[in-house]
Amino acid sequence: APALRIGLLGCGNVGSQVARLLTEHAADLAARSGTGLELVGVAVRDLGRDRPGIDPALLTDDAAGLVDRSDVVVELMGGLEPARTLVLQAIRAGASVVTGNKALLAQHGPELFAAADAAGVDLHFEAAVAGAVPVVRGVRESLAGDRVLRVVGVVNGTTNFVLDRMTTHGVDLAAALAEAQELGYAEADPSSDVDGADAAAKIAILASLAFHTRVSLADVTRDGIREIRPADVAAAREQGHVVKLLAIAERVGDDAVAVRVHPALLPLDHPLAAVHGPFNAVVVEAEAAGRLMFYGAGAGGQQSASAVLGDVVAAARHRVLGGKSPSESAYADLRVAGPEEV
Ligand code: HSE
Repeated sequence: APALRIGLLGCGNVGSQVARLLTEHAADLAARSGTGLELVGVAVRDLGRDRPGIDPALLTDDAAGLVDRSDVVVELMGGLEPARTLVLQAIRAGASVVTGNKALLAQHGPELFAAADAAGVDLHFEAAVAGAVPVVRGVRESLAGDRVLRVVGVVNGTTNFVLDRMTTHGVDLAAALAEAQELGYAEADPSSDVDGADAAAKIAILASLAFHTRVSLADVTRDGIREIRPADVAAAREQGHVVKLLAIAERVGDDAVAVRVHPALLPLDHPLAAVHGPFNAVVVEAEAAGRLMFYGAGAGGQQSASAVLGDVVAAARHRVLGGKSPSESAYADLRVAGPEEV
C-alpha cells in the first residue's frame, strides 16, 4: 500500500515527541501498520520558533492546507478552536483523526463522533485521558461486552504531584504547582488542573464511553484542591489517610449516571493511595469483570506520544485492512444525575 500521509497539528510537548518517534520508529511502525507512515507536515502557530529535531521543511502555519493533504490528522494543538473546525474538516474529507484534546472531546464529543460515523472514518483519543495508560481502549473496546458500574480515578497528574509534595515536603500549593509546571505536567493554564476542570474533562470522556451516554464537562459536579493546605494533608496523614483528587462516575438507579470530581480522604491501604506524583490510575468496576485497575504515567510528552502513536497505528490498520474505530453515536442515553442525587 502507498505510504499514509500523517499531518501533525501542534508541536508542543506531545507533538514534538510524536514527530520524533514517527521518524525514529518508522520501520517498526510501517511493519505494524501494513504501510509506511510519512510525516508530511507539522502545523504550528509560530514559524519563527526554534524546534530542535524537527525538519524545518515540514513546518507550516497553514493548518487547513495540511489537513487537505493528510490521510491521518493528529491533532495536538489543544483548545476548542481552531481544533474543532480542523478536526471536522479532516473527518469530512475522509481522513482518520487522532487527538489528545480532552477539552475538545468533553465539549464537542457528540458532534465529532456523529461526523466520524457519517464519514466512516476513525476518531481515536487515547492520549486525552491518563497519558500513556490505555484506559480509553480498555473501557471503549475491552469492556464493550460488560456492564460498567463505576469508574474511579486519579486522572490529574499535576494535582496528584502537588498533594504529594504537600505531604512529603510540607510545601504549599503555589510552590508545588510551580514545580509541576517546571516538570511539564501542568496545563498551559494550571487553574484547570487545580480547580478540577482537567480531571472533569477526562471523567466526562470516560463516563461517556463506560456508560454509553453523553456526559459533557458542564455535567460534572466539581471541586478542586485550591483550598487544601499542607496542614490538612498532615492531619489526614496522622489519621492514616491521604488526600487525593478523585474523579468518579457511577450508576445511580437504573437510568442515571453521577459524575463528579472532588478531593477525598483515602485510607493508606486503598490501591489509589499508592498512586504518586504525575502517575494516574483508574479503577473500573464492571458487572462480570469485577474490579480492574489501569495504572501508569498520566502526563509527559513522551508518555502521551506513546498513546498517540498507538492510535495512529490503529487508524492506519483500518485504512489498509478496512474497518473503523467503534461508533460512539449510538447511545443508551442515561440521565446525568444532579448533585442532590449523588
Ligand atoms: N495537566 C494534565 C495532568 C496533563 O496534570 O494530568 C495530562 O493530561
